Amino acid sequence: MYSSKIIGLGYYVPENVVTNDDLSKIMDTNDEWIQERTGIKERRWIDPKSGDTTAIMGSKAAKIAIERAGLTKDDIDFIIFATLSPDMYFPGGGVLLQDLLDMPTVGALDIRNQCSGFIYGLSVADQFIKTGMYKNVLVVGSENHSGGLDKTTRGRNVSVIFGDGAGAAVLSRCEEKGKGILSTHLHSEGKYAKELTIENPSTNKWIPEFIKENNHDDVSYYPYMNGQFVFKHAVVRFSEVIMEGLMANNLQKDDISLLIPHQANLRISQFIQKKLGLADGKVFNNIMKYGNTTAASVVIALTEAFEEGRIKDNDIVVLAAFGSGFTWGSVVIRW
Ligand SMILES: CC(C)(COP(=O)(O)OP(=O)(O)OC[C@H]1O[C@@H](n2cnc3c(N)ncnc32)[C@H](O)[C@@H]1OP(=O)(O)O)[C@@H](O)C(=O)NCCC(=O)NCCS
Repeated sequence: MYSSKIIGLGYYVPENVVTNDDLSKIMDTNDEWIQERTGIKERRWIDPKSGDTTAIMGSKAAKIAIERAGLTKDDIDFIIFATLSPDMYFPGGGVLLQDLLDMPTVGALDIRNQCSGFIYGLSVADQFIKTGMYKNVLVVGSENHSGGLDKTTRGRNVSVIFGDGAGAAVLSRCEEKGKGILSTHLHSEGKYAKELTIENPSTNKWIPEFIKENNHDDVSYYPYMNGQFVFKHAVVRFSEVIMEGLMANNLQKDDISLLIPHQANLRISQFIQKKLGLADGKVFNNIMKYGNTTAASVVIALTEAFEEGRIKDNDIVVLAAFGSGFTWGSVVIRW
């Protein structure tokens, strides 16, 4: 059986920087509250004039990842696209990206696992490569949150947290034994689906209702998050699934060279770091600059960590995420 490894990474974030002070001009919030509760200083929100969309941002990140992998678009055997904010209700972002990059008629799969989307995507890609079915798989996470947030005081507990952006990884067949993706672990608990959700539009509340005037007063079209409930579950599940990954590979906490958690809240990352007893240099955070970019967050952080020289050959890199669903998962890599 083969294994898979990441051979190219890229990310793209919109140019438009939105600071906490900018938000305080449109809703009742302030820099102190946001930084203290979340660690976020600023995020990127698409400037509508820029033309960026979830698929376009994903394609920009993918272009960089493919080039850095030393491949061309024609070498990619399969596309996996994770987002909760697709350009269209259907079809999904995968086929849009395939068209934007003028790729051959390879398969394109869409992943709907929110903050865990990239982790789920890596796991799927890993399985396809392990079995020998595909050699090079492109995994993309991209989000346009700003297009769908309630940017009034009513929505402030959610809207200050989320940012736009995209990241991409090229996974390829690995010939070296004991290297690349060592394990992936995925979980879900659907009984908490409504604790972090956008309920509509849906087949329960279909398009004619969506386009009715005044529908902006219907909060079911905006993200809802039971913040403290999500927080409490996140800290438990993150630690569990990281330990599950380490144990499956006979590794200890000390073996972690770099942990890259999904960037949901700096306090969550700090909590996990403390629980696992990891030194500051062993946990990568960039939520300060980008907020929570959901499916894009882990891969943007992984790309930045790699670009900053924080990941070296043979390092044990652990990726982990938790989010809406609830869904969560981890990936253990020997780089
Ligand atoms: C969202 C989150 C930052 C909120 O922090 P919190 O400490 O739980 O804050 P609360 O929701 O209890 O709100 C505390 C107070 O701040 C207020 N508040 C909420 N958002 C605010 C904002 N943006 N600015 C100012 N005040 C705000 C609330 O109205 C509340 O006021 P009250 O005490 O007068 O009622 C936090 O719960 C969290 O990070 N949750 C998990 C997020 C997550 O992991 N997401 C999922 C993975 S994607």
